[in-house]
Amino acid sequence: MELKLKIFRFDPGKGEKPYYQTYTVEAQPTDRLLDCLNRIRWEQDPTLAFRMSCAHGVCGSDGMRINGICGLPCQKLVKDFKDEVLVEPMPVFKVIKDLVVNLDLFFEKYNSIKPYLLTKTPAPEQERRQSPEGQTKFEESVRCILCACCTSSCPINQKKETEKYVGPAALVRAFRYLFDSRDEGAEERIALLDQKDGALGCQTLWKCTEVCPKKIPVTRQIAQIKRRIYEAKRPPR
Ligand code: SF4
Ligand code: FES
Repeated sequence: MELKLKIFRFDPGKGEKPYYQTYTVEAQPTDRLLDCLNRIRWEQDPTLAFRMSCAHGVCGSDGMRINGICGLPCQKLVKDFKDEVLVEPMPVFKVIKDLVVNLDLFFEKYNSIKPYLLTKTPAPEQERRQSPEGQTKFEESVRCILCACCTSSCPINQKKETEKYVGPAALVRAFRYLFDSRDEGAEERIALLDQKDGALGCQTLWKCTEVCPKKIPVTRQIAQIKRRIYEAKRPPR
């Protein structure tokens, strides 16, 4: 079958305005949209810029907006589209070129929540072990591949006045440590998250959960963080 891809093109270095360019590719219904993008770059237009690496939904590098919804082209099949697909860069972030966006801000916010185990007790001789039951409390959040689809789809991150909001991807990682019994930094984490630009910035709009390619219950996890903050502040009975 033939598929048309209408793709956002922009090269800020050239001083030209953004525009859309349409390419036609021959594809099998079971090809992925990423295969079509690769074919365009290899066979028609080597100047088309986009990120990709694993091609199997593991690295999280190919986040983009496909027919208005953020997702991974390596997880989209050609047969699920009609004749034409609109392909654009993820919103919120500055475009470096075509479909490639600058994720510095995304990773700054991610790093701000201390995305690593905080410990106070001396390190054991071997690793700090987790039980299978303990693991179930946070294992969904471990699936996050930092594709940024959630953060770029979040209406709060999209507004200028709330752009400092840490965003759903960072909160998923905060959840991962807050609910891991090996982490000993709950107090420090809660202080970081109990902020209007932290977990309290979430207005439960569900966009993050809708787009997450790893099916992480993002909004529910943010709600659990808010509950944990509330419980930490509640006076003892
Ligand atoms: Fe991507 Fe889902 Fe992780 Fe957000 S929570 S960065 S959408 S994998
Ligand atoms: Fe790695 Fe799509 S290319 S997740």
